[in-house]
Amino acid sequence: MAFDLVLFGGTGDLAWRKLMPALFQAFRHGKLPHDGRILAVARDARSDEQYRELIRGRFADVEEAKRPTRSEFERFAQLLHYRRMDLSRVEDYQGLKTWIDERGAETVVLFLATSPHLFMPVCEQLGAVGLNGPHVRVVLEKPLGHDLASAQQINKVLRSVFDERQALRIDHYLGKPAVQNLSALRFGNALFEPIWRRESIANIQITLAESLGVGSRGDFYNRTGALRDMVQNHALQLLTMIAMEAPASSDADAIRDEKLKVLRSLRPFTETDVARDVVRGQYRAGVIAGQPVPGYQQESEPLSGSTTETFVALRTEVQNWRWAGVPFYIRTGKRLATQEAHIVINFRHVPHSIFPSTGAANKLVIKLQPEDGLELHLMAAKGTGQHELLAPVSLDLDFDKAFATERVGAYERLLLDALAGRLNLFVRSDEQEQAWRWVEPILNHWSREPEGPKPYAAGGWGPAASSALIARDGFAWSEES
Ligand code: BG6
Repeated sequence: MAFDLVLFGGTGDLAWRKLMPALFQAFRHGKLPHDGRILAVARDARSDEQYRELIRGRFADVEEAKRPTRSEFERFAQLLHYRRMDLSRVEDYQGLKTWIDERGAETVVLFLATSPHLFMPVCEQLGAVGLNGPHVRVVLEKPLGHDLASAQQINKVLRSVFDERQALRIDHYLGKPAVQNLSALRFGNALFEPIWRRESIANIQITLAESLGVGSRGDFYNRTGALRDMVQNHALQLLTMIAMEAPASSDADAIRDEKLKVLRSLRPFTETDVARDVVRGQYRAGVIAGQPVPGYQQESEPLSGSTTETFVALRTEVQNWRWAGVPFYIRTGKRLATQEAHIVINFRHVPHSIFPSTGAANKLVIKLQPEDGLELHLMAAKGTGQHELLAPVSLDLDFDKAFATERVGAYERLLLDALAGRLNLFVRSDEQEQAWRWVEPILNHWSREPEGPKPYAAGGWGPAASSALIARDGFAWSEES
């Protein structure tokens, strides 16, 4: 299949750090058709050769196993092209269209790896020159809007130029292998369905923890905060994958309809709920892996005095027959104790125990990173004494070991899906807007509340109020239990 993949913002951070390495991996795994072209578009003048040289240099920063050899790069570089464009000039879009039309590739994917404020004007220009035919798809990265109104505005422009099936909104968490496995676990095994419900499950915890701080992204992050950066998208998408009903088929819309139902079933926040069920925090100086690290406000001058949250913990419920009364807890933050993401399904205690109580119960841990895997904690008899003693033991499944084949990274998977027109892992506009609708009362409440985020020391697990939030229901975060 001949394709043209156009990277707007082709010399920007996303293109360098994520897209090029992912495209190279796809190439190395033999998944990128050889008659494809990858066109980087940016403002500066440079030739194809100069761009290829730049990319060659950038690969020096990529981890060794994922770096091309000289001959691999020579072959990969043949796919790379460069085009200078001023994104405000319609003539430049016409030039791009001519370049694409001359070859007439079957598939054209336009990846907007630009600053989000360009999404609307770029889409309008693409429409104006007719770069929106049925063989064209446009891919957008978050942040897609700052709130419901701005997301709706972007979607309105998108819809005026492209069909919904041509507009691919990336949430890179959906591309992570563990998330594919979550679907496989739930809908490929008969074992879990009967217990995947309120009768067997006590609570569900989603933790997306980062030990890194905001680094050089302070300016962006300060306008965004953890709720918009991680909860509205990544955490809610994971929640939908856990809570959704089995779709009728693997068709993208069948899946997205079910995810949307979950988002619509989330208990809406009232003012009182936000004060009670949502904790926001901001990191202060602390120690991570033995190294002192500065507080958020000391990261750079403009952050001084900031009230942006770098941590969120919240409790919600999915109001339907399957999940009524089961708390779902979400927790995410920067400068926490470790860099890891996991989902913990805590099962209920046995209804009547004949053994001395250990306080433990079964749990299933779905690990997203650093490694992806599954852990099922079962109770087993430990030793032989006067009384049988029970202790939890875990069945560990390491997907890298189970499948000797090379695992596909999130961006590689999503780029290949975009080229193939597989939409399952992209977020539909109604899902995205519903997620904004749900977080908005939190944003509104915070904007009126003078207290601001609670401080927490870098290297811990966030403010004490986060542990108190879950302890109120008689539970503990999984690393505390
Ligand atoms: C991005 C956020 O969407 O996800 C970043 O903007 C965050 O702030 C990143 O660091 C986390 O992604 P991952 O894949 O490293 O967990």
